[in-house]
Amino acid sequence: MTENNNPDKIRSVVPKVRQEFLRQQALQVASLRGEVAEIGVYKGGTAKILARAMPARMVHLFDTFEGMPETSEVDIHKPGDFADTSLETVNEYLQGYNVHFWPGIFPDSARLLPDDIEFVLVHVDVDIYESTKAACEFFWPRLVTGGIMIFDDYNGPRCPGANKAVDEFFNAWQEIEVSGPNKRYGTRVVKTQK
Ligand SMILES: C[S@@+](CC[C@H](N)C(=O)[O-])C[C@H]1O[C@@H](n2cnc3c(N)ncnc32)[C@H](O)[C@@H]1O
Repeated sequence: MTENNNPDKIRSVVPKVRQEFLRQQALQVASLRGEVAEIGVYKGGTAKILARAMPARMVHLFDTFEGMPETSEVDIHKPGDFADTSLETVNEYLQGYNVHFWPGIFPDSARLLPDDIEFVLVHVDVDIYESTKAACEFFWPRLVTGGIMIFDDYNGPRCPGANKAVDEFFNAWQEIEVSGPNKRYGTRVVKTQK
């Protein structure tokens, strides 16, 4: 199969270096308990990386599957960006994987998620302020000790809202480790204590 007709390549806007970072993080938490979540699925590219890397875990997938919701002044992305996808096509792409779809606007779309589910790995790739903030507030308390939240857009040139949300939320925490796959963008936060 050539690069051009490889369906996995054209289903993600995330560059290879950060796809590989995601895969490595999944391997790193393999011995811990907890399920997996992705907020910002689009066509399912990085979702498949997670589902392949952790086949025994449920991977919860959150997206409108209809494009960006309302954005705020700090954001560059606009409502309706990334609308060229659908729940049906992503479902088909991830057929046979251990995934659960939560379509709609997050965090409202998560209101039926059982309270007792704990997460070991959460991939946040929503690009905008309110969605990133909501992901921090929702998932950080549900993350197991040693669990990781990855913020794909941190320092991204088109995602100033993602930085603002992460910096505001995590400035309050002392026991965190922040790092990324390169000095440009993408980062992770490891939960070192409950
Ligand atoms: C950059 S794309 C995700 C890219 C994807 N991870 C990949 O592998 O290509 C960002 C996605 O976030 C979604 N999104 C942003 N805010 C959201 C929210 N509050 N609720 C649901 N989806 C949201 C958009 O619909 C869009 O599909």
